[in-house]
Amino acid sequence: MPIITNIEDLRQLARRKVPRAIFDYVDRGSYDEISYRANTDDLKAIRFRQRVLIDADNRSLKTTMLGEQVAMPVAIAPTGLTGLMHGDGEMLAARAAEKAGIRFTLSTMSICSIEDVRSAIKAPFWFQLYVFRDRGFSESVIARAREAGCTALFVTVDLPLRGQRHADIKNGLEVPPKLTLRNALDIASKPAWALSVLMGRRKSFGNIDAYLKNKGGVWAAGAWANDNFDATLSWKDVAWARKLWPGKLVIKGVLDAEDAKQAADLGADAIVVSNHGGRQLDGAPSTIAALPRVAEAVGDRIEVLFDGGVRSGQDVLKALALGARGCLIGRAYLDGLAAMGEAGVAKALSLIADELRISMSLTGVREIAEVSRDILFDNVDDRRRNT
Ligand code: FNR
Repeated sequence: MPIITNIEDLRQLARRKVPRAIFDYVDRGSYDEISYRANTDDLKAIRFRQRVLIDADNRSLKTTMLGEQVAMPVAIAPTGLTGLMHGDGEMLAARAAEKAGIRFTLSTMSICSIEDVRSAIKAPFWFQLYVFRDRGFSESVIARAREAGCTALFVTVDLPLRGQRHADIKNGLEVPPKLTLRNALDIASKPAWALSVLMGRRKSFGNIDAYLKNKGGVWAAGAWANDNFDATLSWKDVAWARKLWPGKLVIKGVLDAEDAKQAADLGADAIVVSNHGGRQLDGAPSTIAALPRVAEAVGDRIEVLFDGGVRSGQDVLKALALGARGCLIGRAYLDGLAAMGEAGVAKALSLIADELRISMSLTGVREIAEVSRDILFDNVDDRRRNT
């Protein structure tokens, strides 16, 4: 077993464990990948103020996200097809999150269903909704999420239609998928992965299958979803979701202060500053560049969550310093899952927690509530003004 000291080690292990089409599906962004790269690069470019001789013992990472007690300001982001990274992927990741004392968010496009995840953990989890053209699906899935005790509904608004990822097309990862000779050989060279997926409880989109009454399997469910993304999505739909969902309503995929204000006006409890991990509008700003203005605009009214490019506890601390209440992580946990299943997700979470704790100590903050812009040597806005 290789020694794992950071998320990049898990990524390298993941690269060896899963077929290339699956690895690229997770690892790549849309079009020229400008926003995808900017997410990580802009986070890395931020510098902390190093403070010394301030008693660096006993840091607490505890905080709340969406009003719920969590062990650290991190949650697992909703990601589609996660049961293909590793069999039962969503259930395993939910378990690792529960053990780490943080929240798991289940995607509409998951392989394991809402009910599967409910059966795997005791803690509440969050559900992410794509508002499809077939509003009957949304209504039924919202009812199922309520039934399962989900405490928050994340309505994703940055994907009314799908941006293109070149790698997915070249790898045959389309709807329907193309099984090329290269893919077949690749799968044959990853027997442990193939076995785990074959042994998994489901091989199709669990939430959609239940709605389609299990007719047709993965091809039919995938095609149905593909045809159902709704380019007419508008603020009216947010108001509609607000009426249907009595719990916390979170609008995911906001980069602009005006949109953030609109979300707050319509009664959202929180937003996620997100560009879908650089998988949608290429050329959009990095999320860390967008965060300060959004936090400034609505941070006193609703919770501002953040995702995009978070690969370390340092990244989490930087986002908090620029106004986020907490971070969601996508690829960082998926790399852990693909590398080592539940243990890999647990490893990803413990790496981030340790990095966050140590970085808090070295910047002189004792608890999450003390984190502010003060811990940054400079920040994204200052740098922009100076260039
Ligand atoms: C995603 N994301 C996503 N978001 C969402 O609301 N519903 C979904 O089904 C998916 N699916 C998905 C699949 C994969 C493979 C990735 C990498 C991402 C976006 C996700 O929730 C989150 O916004 C980003 O992953 C955050 O960026 P990082 O942490 O991956 O850099």
